[in-house]
Amino acid sequence: MTRILAAEPAAIAEAATILKRGGLVSFPTETVYGLGARGLHKDEVAKIFAAKGRPPGHPVILHVDGEEMARGLAAEWPPVASELARRFWPGPLTIVVPRAAHVPPEVSGGLDTVGIRAPAHPVALALIRAVGEPLAAPSANIHTMVSPTKAGDVASAAWKEPVELVLDGGPCEIGIESTVVAVGSGPLRILRPGAVTLEQLRAVDPDAVDGTTVIEGDEARAAPGMASRHYAPSAHETRLLPYGDAAAFPDLAIEGGRKSRSGKYSVAAIVLSDAVRRAAEAQALQLRTMIVMPADPALYARGLYAALRDADKHASHLILVESPPDTPAWTAVLDRLRRATHR
Ligand code: TXA
Ligand code: MG
Repeated sequence: MTRILAAEPAAIAEAATILKRGGLVSFPTETVYGLGARGLHKDEVAKIFAAKGRPPGHPVILHVDGEEMARGLAAEWPPVASELARRFWPGPLTIVVPRAAHVPPEVSGGLDTVGIRAPAHPVALALIRAVGEPLAAPSANIHTMVSPTKAGDVASAAWKEPVELVLDGGPCEIGIESTVVAVGSGPLRILRPGAVTLEQLRAVDPDAVDGTTVIEGDEARAAPGMASRHYAPSAHETRLLPYGDAAAFPDLAIEGGRKSRSGKYSVAAIVLSDAVRRAAEAQALQLRTMIVMPADPALYARGLYAALRDADKHASHLILVESPPDTPAWTAVLDRLRRATHR
């Protein structure tokens, strides 16, 4: 198991020392925990890919302490990028801009762009400043598995390359990854929904669009990071139940679950509406566990990955997740659930 230290000044200094000699360190951000290495050193970035088992075509985000450091990584930093940084940094927004020549192409999976973010977490910012350079950091999970929102999630993962230290900054406040927005010649384009919404981006560019797509199989390699299966628990199957569809619950629970040795169906339910909660309660004998999610989208997002991990611990056959309503407030959560349940 990887070592965890409370994120106090001495631990942050130690983490910076490890990074400066080329090691991997996990640190908290306001979205999820990141797995960090120095972003301008391609051999160190390669260790991140090796540790996660991440295919080389997937770009990683460079974490900076603010706009000035970001400008140094971009071949072009247009006025709209400044406006985004001014409004949303530090915070859960990754800005994709043309990549400066000295940023190793390995960082962005060979693309000529680079994703940059200033995280709104004092520990992340202190670490970036202590190292004095941008930190490459994808979410600190094994490739395709559920992202970590607690230090223990990182420490217990089966890393394929040593992660020397996890800085424990407590649970992540937002709980899902940043919004990724591409700044190019056309309008702003969301590549991954997150806490910064399309509506908020339209205050900067009224023509901003949602460019999120779920891409299948081989095409996923052509469009890095958009792979359809992601954020996935290891349970045999994870399925989405339509919002409020209490009538469909019993069949899905029974059909999807297989009798386990204990006599209970190996099914976990993650529910949201009162109707489906009641249906699940009526089916309690068939369930290993039932997790009731908050009705507020931000609180739901904060608890989502912990719920998926918890359900995964209890149920080895089926996780049944009630989908939230398909409204703008739920875009980011729905995106993660669709990817987690994609087969
Ligand atoms: O909240 C977050 O963004 C977290 C924390 C640690 O900051 N990081 C994170 O990184 O989620 P990761 O590597 O798991 O996801 C980065 C995603 C990629 O999968 C891709 O979708 C997008 O960001 N991305 C990064 N650079 C890109 C680029 N140059 N072009 C297109 N997409 C890019
Ligand atoms: Mg990730």
